[in-house]
Amino acid sequence: MKREDFPILKNDLIYFDNGATTLKPQVVVDSMIDYYTNYTANAHRGDYDNSLKVDMKYEEVRTKVKNFIHAKSEREIIFTSGATDSLNRIVFGYMKTHLKQGDEVLITKAEHASNVLPWLELEKEIGIVVRYIPLENHLVTMENVEKSITEKVKVISLAHVTNVLGDIRPIAEIGKLCQEKNILLVVDGAQSVPHRKVDVEELEIDFLAFSAHKMLGPTGVGVLYGKENLLEEMKPLEFGGGMNASFASSGEVEYKSLPSRLEAGTPPIAEVIGMGAAIDYLEEIGMDQIHRYEIELKKYFLEKAKEVDKLVIYNPDIESGLIAFNIDGVFSQDTAVYLNHYHICVRAGNHCAKILKEDLFVKNTCRISFYFYNTKEEIDQLITVLKNAKDLFQIVLS
Ligand code: ALA
Repeated sequence: MKREDFPILKNDLIYFDNGATTLKPQVVVDSMIDYYTNYTANAHRGDYDNSLKVDMKYEEVRTKVKNFIHAKSEREIIFTSGATDSLNRIVFGYMKTHLKQGDEVLITKAEHASNVLPWLELEKEIGIVVRYIPLENHLVTMENVEKSITEKVKVISLAHVTNVLGDIRPIAEIGKLCQEKNILLVVDGAQSVPHRKVDVEELEIDFLAFSAHKMLGPTGVGVLYGKENLLEEMKPLEFGGGMNASFASSGEVEYKSLPSRLEAGTPPIAEVIGMGAAIDYLEEIGMDQIHRYEIELKKYFLEKAKEVDKLVIYNPDIESGLIAFNIDGVFSQDTAVYLNHYHICVRAGNHCAKILKEDLFVKNTCRISFYFYNTKEEIDQLITVLKNAKDLFQIVLS
């Protein structure tokens, strides 16, 4: 990895908002430009060279994704528009026809909106019951998962790593328990897949959702992983070209097999190709190496943070590259605006996990989320700026 691979970093920019989206290396951008410049064609529709090349490239990425998350088969990998789309398909394409009134779904109050709102909608539509696993000091514990399971629980749906505190859920243990109790495990991998090795088989995950743009890839594309027997029973939410084998005016329709059946219409071809280049880039560095380095950055930050007065850190013990903090007495957005003055990008707010405040007792936090291209020197600069935060109100209010 070279920082020069990320042209945006040539600017005077310290980018600590990787939980929101990541920067893109030039190879990802180039792979998409190459498609648009040199071999534009639709996928799965033509018999000429460029079209066949597109088919090959597009399906090659499916294999890359399969290997990246250690799935069994390409038929388990569906390209979607992102994690939100994937989660909506799980809820409305599968759960809506497989759950019934009174069935319970366990989530937590620390979930991102995309793993709450579809379930709340399904609750209104068919009368499932959404219940919350109690958090222990903001964390999911096995004890509380076990205590929350009743005969009626049919699904547990959790972020692998949360986007507010970066805590890592014990997915392997939960997966094992779900297998024993015949409960489906849905995992939102938006904040884990980009940062650590995720093995869907080892973790016994039934459905996994993630986005390319949080792992060096373009926006507008993501992945829905599902065990093949589950995806076989998933109803498409979109119907159209590419997903049918034949149809007639009599109403007779034959759909294609997986994965095409769940990918109606022209897919985001350039974006899929860009996601493939992003996976190649990540694999060259190594996911374990990325995870280790992010933890090293967090430790370094925590050590340096001792020099800063009034810094409240909400998740010091959590081993991921995410820091939730506030400057005591200062509204988090004011802190973010102050840091922006020094070209330091952090996120402030409730981070789309709007019900966590019921447990966290703070409504808003500032969030630093590292990625492998961040450096200790950038942290030093942040610390210097935070130490001078007495200037904060002057700048925010001027
Ligand atoms: N879910 C993204 C974040 O946490 C947008 O910033």
